Amino acid sequence: MIPQDFIQSLLGRVDIVDVIDRHVRLKKAGTNYKACCPFHNEKTPSFNVSPSKQFYHCFGCGAHGNAIGFVMEYSGLTYPDAIRELAQQAGMEVPEVRGNLPGRPAAAQAKGLVDRMMEALNYYRAELKKTPEAIEYLKRRGLSGEIAARYGLGYAPDAWQSLKGVFADYESAEMKETGLVIDSEAGEAHGAEPAKKARRYDRFRGRVMFPILDSRGNVIGFGGRVIGDGEPKYLNSPETPLFEKGRELYGLWQARRAIRDANLVIVVEGYMDVVALAQHGVENAVATLGTATTPMHVAKLLRLADSVVYCFDGDAAGRRAAWKALEVSLPVLADGKSVAFLFLPPEDDPDTFVRRVGKEAFLGALAEAKPLSQFLVSEIASKVDMRSEEGRARFLAQAKPLVSQIEAPALGAMIRKRLAELAGLDPAELPGYLPPRDSGRPRPAPAARVIRRAHSLEAQILQRVLRKPDLARSVDPDLVSDGSPEGRALHAALAFAREGDSGLTLGQVIAHFEGSEHAAALEAAIRGGSILDEVPEDDLDLAAELAGLQDKLGHQRADRRKAELEARHMEGGLTEAEQAELASLTARQAASKGVNSALELPPKQ
Ligand code: GTP
Ligand code: MN
Repeated sequence: MIPQDFIQSLLGRVDIVDVIDRHVRLKKAGTNYKACCPFHNEKTPSFNVSPSKQFYHCFGCGAHGNAIGFVMEYSGLTYPDAIRELAQQAGMEVPEVRGNLPGRPAAAQAKGLVDRMMEALNYYRAELKKTPEAIEYLKRRGLSGEIAARYGLGYAPDAWQSLKGVFADYESAEMKETGLVIDSEAGEAHGAEPAKKARRYDRFRGRVMFPILDSRGNVIGFGGRVIGDGEPKYLNSPETPLFEKGRELYGLWQARRAIRDANLVIVVEGYMDVVALAQHGVENAVATLGTATTPMHVAKLLRLADSVVYCFDGDAAGRRAAWKALEVSLPVLADGKSVAFLFLPPEDDPDTFVRRVGKEAFLGALAEAKPLSQFLVSEIASKVDMRSEEGRARFLAQAKPLVSQIEAPALGAMIRKRLAELAGLDPAELPGYLPPRDSGRPRPAPAARVIRRAHSLEAQILQRVLRKPDLARSVDPDLVSDGSPEGRALHAALAFAREGDSGLTLGQVIAHFEGSEHAAALEAAIRGGSILDEVPEDDLDLAAELAGLQDKLGHQRADRRKAELEARHMEGGLTEAEQAELASLTARQAASKGVNSALELPPKQ
């Protein structure tokens, strides 16, 4: 939970041009800046950054947003993490309100941890250089020094307290937080060592170390593999304030660029799988950290690329992991995104497979990966007898809870159609067995409705106010009806813009309404309006346009009120005051008609 006023002042402090220019070379073009879009492949720049709006927009792919949105998209961070990242760049301390996210560290506390992890990494890397046995092991597994360096591989010496020489406060509580040490239960023995009273010892001993980085490149944990045989084969850092296994993905930091370039991310199970794929030139792979794929993983990956391919071991466990990944992917899928599964021969994992067949054959297999829809259908069909009516009924019954989780309308519809065909049902009969996701449930504010009505007067005003929020002061909120989503969003936007200082940017308005009930209407106004076009503000008389629109709004409102009063008048239900109001509305309308018809007369000779 990060307070909204902090987010506002952060966006007031950072300049989106600097934020984006760190990653994408921007060129000045008039009042804006341009570049080739980092979110899709293009040769001529259609990615625009507006310093006055603090907003970016790509005319090629439609990507747009404020500085926070850019960092989220570009680095694959969550909203709060993107804010933390920006704050760090701006030298601002994020005031964290401890909310419902357990275990999120206070910034300062986490900082100490990050430094300790980095020191440990440097130590392990130095130790690897001194340990021929470990180097030999990695070489045997086909890794070059370059790849080992790229993944920061290291070695933890086979001793109980080697970190004591690295951390002067080895016995401190802070050390315990890193997960690098273990406190033995009282009375537990470790043979001759550790000496005398010492109860604390290194978690990782005699292991090849795989550092786990977060999406900012900080070391947040380690995985350690025994050299040769031994139990457990892998030892992982415990969950710490920095490290939450269900959120993080091994190799994401190194893979980011390749994922973006390919617009595809490969998800494997093992550290060695990621590193071996990179060794063979397949750099867009990441691994879950000894846990099943979580919805958080999938959401994060689908923010980075349009396609996710799961490539698990070819054995039964790998198939189970794939099915689990399918289940967690269903609710996160959107039309335009694709999830597929690459099933390897039973004796292989991605590491052995790519070593055996090489990069080209691996990429070939990847292109043939089974789409989620096919995996879903074939897996269920394989568990029932599709030749009998009973079997096909079970087939539908088993598909039902899965299909009902698919939010993506087109994909959902196609899978339902396929299921109907296989079950031998007329698709027209299907809704009874497999109801579309939303049947019977009223939707609160479907985006489609907002867009279809985007040309209401309220929407037109909203579009102009978003272009230049300072103009909000010239709009009379009393004229704005709150009978539509965009009317309510306009009310809220006017109130927000009026209470703040002048110079409010679109970027700040968007941040204020992030995740609110008005977000969809604002998004529709941005997409539907000419907010993102290249005509500079100075060439438009937005103030005059707003005045004209308000005039129309006034007339529209008067017309509605008049119609309402007239209807009640017919039933004889008007008070004296209302009768007077009706008379004055009628007079006003006649007057304005008179003016109009006078104007329409041909000029007198
Ligand atoms: P190797 O090729 O044998 O080095 O391992 P791998 O990368 O093929 O890993 P494997 O498929 O055996 O396991 C996949 C992942 O599960 C590993 O990368 C670890 O994250 C995790 N894992 C494997 N074995 C263990 C274990 O013994 N303990 C724990 N905690 N995790 C393990
Ligand atoms: Mn392996």
